[in-house]
Amino acid sequence: SDDELQKRITDAKRRLGDRLLILGHFYQRDEIIRHADFVGDSFQLAKNATERPDAEHIVFCGVHFMAETADILSTPEQSVTLPNLSAGCSMADMADIEQVEACWDALSRICGDKPDSEGLAPVVPVTYMNSSAALKAFCGRHGGIVCTSSNARAVLEWAFARGRRVLFFPDQHLGRNTARAMGVSLAQMPLWDPFRPCGGASDPDDYAKATMILWKGFCSVHQRFTVDQVERARRAYPGVKVIVHPECSMQVVDAADGVGSTAYIVRQIEQAPAGAVIAVGTEINLVNRLAAQHPDKTVFCLDPVVCPCSTMYRIHPAYLAWVLENLEQGNVVNRITVDDDTARDAKVALERMLRVHP
Ligand code: 13P
Ligand code: SF4
Repeated sequence: SDDELQKRITDAKRRLGDRLLILGHFYQRDEIIRHADFVGDSFQLAKNATERPDAEHIVFCGVHFMAETADILSTPEQSVTLPNLSAGCSMADMADIEQVEACWDALSRICGDKPDSEGLAPVVPVTYMNSSAALKAFCGRHGGIVCTSSNARAVLEWAFARGRRVLFFPDQHLGRNTARAMGVSLAQMPLWDPFRPCGGASDPDDYAKATMILWKGFCSVHQRFTVDQVERARRAYPGVKVIVHPECSMQVVDAADGVGSTAYIVRQIEQAPAGAVIAVGTEINLVNRLAAQHPDKTVFCLDPVVCPCSTMYRIHPAYLAWVLENLEQGNVVNRITVDDDTARDAKVALERMLRVHP
C-alpha cells in the first residue's frame, strides 16, 4: 500500500543515515519530495550535489540529465542513482550529439571557424542544462557553456562577450525569451531545424547575419500554455498575477507579469501577500504543492486540464523504496555514470557556468 511504501522509504533512509543524500526536483510528487534532503530547481540541485562529499550515495529524484550532472560534479567515490531509468526529458532528447556536430560543421562553413580580428569566436555554443552530458561536453570542447533557466541571461552575456553569435540548444523558447529581453530582435534569431537540410533556412546567410541561432527544441509540458489561458485567468480573476516558466512561448511570456525558473516561481508565491491571486504556467505537481502550502493565497495552474511532466512522474515511491533497500544491501541499482572523457569536458562547461553565476 502507499502507507507501507512510505514507511519502507523512511526506514531505509534512517538506516542509511549520512551515507545517503536524496535530491528532489520541484516537479516531483509530494510522496517523493517529503523524503528529499534538498528540494530545488535544476541549478540549485546541481550545486547541492557537490555539498555532501561525505555521502556515499546520491539518489536523484528528477530526470536523467540532472542525475548525469550530479555524477559529473560529485566525487568519483560517490554513486548517483536515478530511481527509474526511463525518467528522461523529451526536450533534452531533441538534440543529440550527431545532430549538433552536423550543425556545427555547417555553421563553420557559413560563419568561419577562426576568431576574427577582435578575437571573437564565430559561434559560441550554449547548452541548456536540459541536455545530455555529451552536449555539455561538446560545449566544454568548443569554448561554450551551460545555462539553466535561473542564469540564462548572465550566461548569454558571457557568451556574447566572447563570440559574434551564439548557437543555443535544445530549447528555442528559453533562448528566444532570454535574448529578446536583452534586446536581440527576432530577425537576428533564426531557427535551426536538425531535420531539414542546412537547418531549414531559405538562405544560409541568415545564420551568418544571426546573433542567436535557436535549436528547434521545446518542452511539451510548457508548450501547452497559451495566451488564451492567460486572458481567461485575467477575466476570471481581475488583478491576478500571472507568472510563467521561460520554456513557455514568447507570446505567453509577453502576456504574463513575470517569467523565471521554478525557484523564481516558488519565491514569487512565498513573497506574495496574503490574499494574492497567482496563476502559474508550469508543471502541475509544483503548482498544486504551492497552492497547498499557501492556503491564504489563491494559486492555480494556467492550464485548466492538467499539466504534468510525465517523465518526472515516473519516479514512483516504489522505485525509491527499491533503490534504497538495495543500497542498504550494498547493491547500487540504476546507477548513472558518465564516462571519464565526457565528464571531464562537460565539467569544463558546467564550471564556466558556476563561475559566471555562483
Ligand atoms: P528549472 O531549471 O527551472 O528547475 O527547470 C527545469 C525543467 O525541466 C523545467 O521544465
Ligand atoms: Fe523536460 Fe519539460 Fe519535463 Fe522539464 S517539464 S523535465 S523540460 S519534459
